[in-house]
Amino acid sequence: MQIISDPGQMQALAEKLRLNRQCIGVIMTMGALHEGHLSLVKLAQQTAGIVILTIFVNPSQFGPNEDLHKYPRPFEKDASLAKAAGVDYLFAPDADCIYPEHYQTTVECSSISSLFEGALRPGHFKGVATIVTKLFNITKPHIAIFGEKDIQQLAVIRRLVKDLNIDTKIIGAPIVREENGLAISSRNIYLSSQERDAATILYKCICHAEKRMAEHEKDLDSIANEIEQMITLTPGCRPDYVSFVDEETFEPVITTQGNKTYRLLLAMYSGKVRLIDNAKILA
Ligand code: PAF
Repeated sequence: MQIISDPGQMQALAEKLRLNRQCIGVIMTMGALHEGHLSLVKLAQQTAGIVILTIFVNPSQFGPNEDLHKYPRPFEKDASLAKAAGVDYLFAPDADCIYPEHYQTTVECSSISSLFEGALRPGHFKGVATIVTKLFNITKPHIAIFGEKDIQQLAVIRRLVKDLNIDTKIIGAPIVREENGLAISSRNIYLSSQERDAATILYKCICHAEKRMAEHEKDLDSIANEIEQMITLTPGCRPDYVSFVDEETFEPVITTQGNKTYRLLLAMYSGKVRLIDNAKILA
């Protein structure tokens, strides 16, 4: 595995790979690699000939009171995990190569970025859309794989690829869960063992929604209320939002006419740690 930090070098190499008719697959990460990321690498290997993994803790997607400075950066460990997983190129640039002095261009998907995570984290999706566009231009991938764990991020990326005619196929990869149902996330390291146990309520809520669907409940809003109640009744937990949304626009859906798929979005606090989860629901 070759480690590259210079964007120009990465771009020239990607161009050469393309000229040699190699199919490039990219996985974009902020490091602190875990099983979830490695499942994306595996998926990329099944689809593409060359796998590029990017590690960049992108300052522009963190709000002023968020965890940019304490975000974990175990680079040596990440590099050895990537190598063991069979990644071909690890692209890990410094922030000043990505956002040099006088940098001023941004990318924003206006409507979807203002809802849910976007409403809570102003500017977050503008930061994501900008870095993802830059990384597309640097790594020139034929395919890019993103986890469904950050489902609104995936919807923003699908939107920007469509809107800006970016010639990359976007693949959504299923959420990887622990045996107890907790979705694997870099931020789970902030949970105490008690908070981690309590956080399993999220998966129980998804199962509850599926059960209510099997009972042919059409009132999605009342199921969302039941779920909020389940979270509230879990010691140490507090719901942030629970909503069924249209998969593409992320507009909330209150009732279903039946036989359509929606996304159930969940955000809650376990202690001080904010967690998100989601599931595709046929309603
Ligand atoms: O999901 C992430 O880790 C980040 O938001 C991404 C897509 C790498 C952009 O910085």
